[in-house]
Amino acid sequence: MQQTHQRFSEETMGSLEFRPDIYTYPTPRMYKHLDAFPINEVSFTDDINVYVHIPFCKQICSFCGYLKIIDAFNIRGKYVERVVKEIKKYEMVLKGKRIKTLHFGGGTPSLLTPSELGKIINAIAIANPCLDETLEEVSIEATPESVEYEKFLEYRELGINRVSIGVQSFKNDEISSSRRHNLPHTSKEALRILRRVGIHNIVVDLMIGMEGQTKESFKESVKETISFRPDTVELFALGVVPNTYISSKKTSLMKSEEIYGCYRSSNELFVESGYVQACHNRYTIKENGGFLQQDYALRGMSLLGFGAGARSYGINACYRNSSGSANNTQEVMKYISDADTGKYHRTGVFLTKEESLRKYAIGHIEALDTKEFESRFGISFKEKFYGIYKKVRDLGLIEEGEGMIKLSKEGLIFRDAVAYMFFSEEAKALEEAYRKCE
Ligand SMILES: C[S@@+](CC[C@H](N)C(=O)[O-])C[C@H]1O[C@@H](n2cnc3c(N)ncnc32)[C@H](O)[C@@H]1O
Ligand code: SF4
Repeated sequence: MQQTHQRFSEETMGSLEFRPDIYTYPTPRMYKHLDAFPINEVSFTDDINVYVHIPFCKQICSFCGYLKIIDAFNIRGKYVERVVKEIKKYEMVLKGKRIKTLHFGGGTPSLLTPSELGKIINAIAIANPCLDETLEEVSIEATPESVEYEKFLEYRELGINRVSIGVQSFKNDEISSSRRHNLPHTSKEALRILRRVGIHNIVVDLMIGMEGQTKESFKESVKETISFRPDTVELFALGVVPNTYISSKKTSLMKSEEIYGCYRSSNELFVESGYVQACHNRYTIKENGGFLQQDYALRGMSLLGFGAGARSYGINACYRNSSGSANNTQEVMKYISDADTGKYHRTGVFLTKEESLRKYAIGHIEALDTKEFESRFGISFKEKFYGIYKKVRDLGLIEEGEGMIKLSKEGLIFRDAVAYMFFSEEAKALEEAYRKCE
């Protein structure tokens, strides 16, 4: 039995190319420049998520493709004012909605002072006076070295109940070669501080495939992480993004098979330590753990984003504030000047029925209700995607129940590769072209 499983896995791995984590569809590569993107034509669900992007960092990591800058000209205060301005401008969209989650992403939003963070939360509360009654999760991303006891105590008082901390690895050489500052002792101390502060949901981000990492060293970082019993652990397999240091360096990184092997070995470690697998790359220890914003957004709850690199997902459109240029400083300055003039230069796409249907399949890929699919789109899931369905079924990646198709335990490991199968031909061509810029 063990032998069959082993052979099957190797065959499966060989036939599926690893795809960097795919959460959103359509991807930004499909966005078009639409000056004065007509937000009044975008519809949003009644329950919404709010995302705020803070682009400042103390370091530029070798792999990072997010919109981020070192704050060389001390513009953080100015930027926060512009975020508040943007929130005020879209008061009419926020009013009357039930805001379920609020997430501060980056960059490194934990570089904000409590007073700056408070200004943004306050602006949202003014636009949406029921905020306190509807919010289920208020989350912030942090680098380990930015975690300080007093500051996070104030964050907690402002309502922060989830902190995701970018540990990435507990190995000195992997952290150093990534050009990061959080050597293992800093990450450990940050985790101890978050516990003392009493953050409800402490999340550790770990990466798979960092430069110099091996399957064995990854496993050691997982074991070290488990010893701290964070409420949630999220695994991020390294995506080589154009215009990053790592893409220009062309170092040899982990192959698809090794990445999938890391997913598999960590699954065993987490499960035997009492963690529950919440989705393909997330483990939680008890009810505290999880990431509501991501779960809700994937299943179709709209997301309204504010800030330079923020994306928004409505029912009929997706858009973002940045234009996607590689010049991060220019993007942040453009955002500031857009906020001053009140005329935002966004990029985005309105969804056709075909793209809505693909978006739905990708968002629900881990557990898809086939009856719901058919009633929404007027076509059966198996009929529409017969080729994909047959392939993943034959590979043993799905389980079928009454009206449900779910990724099997094996299928969860390959979630990204399966999601990619649902991309339209146009989307695939744009992704391939983008990857060639590496
Ligand atoms: C925007 S970062 C925010 C966290 C914080 N700035 C830090 O680095 O500690 C969110 C997470 O994305 C992941 N990440 C960043 N670049 C990535 C890449 N190229 N491929 C996969 N994951 C990546 C990292 O695990 C990181 O913790
Ligand atoms: S990984 Fe985090 S700290 Fe590093 S550059 Fe990206 S956002 Fe900044």
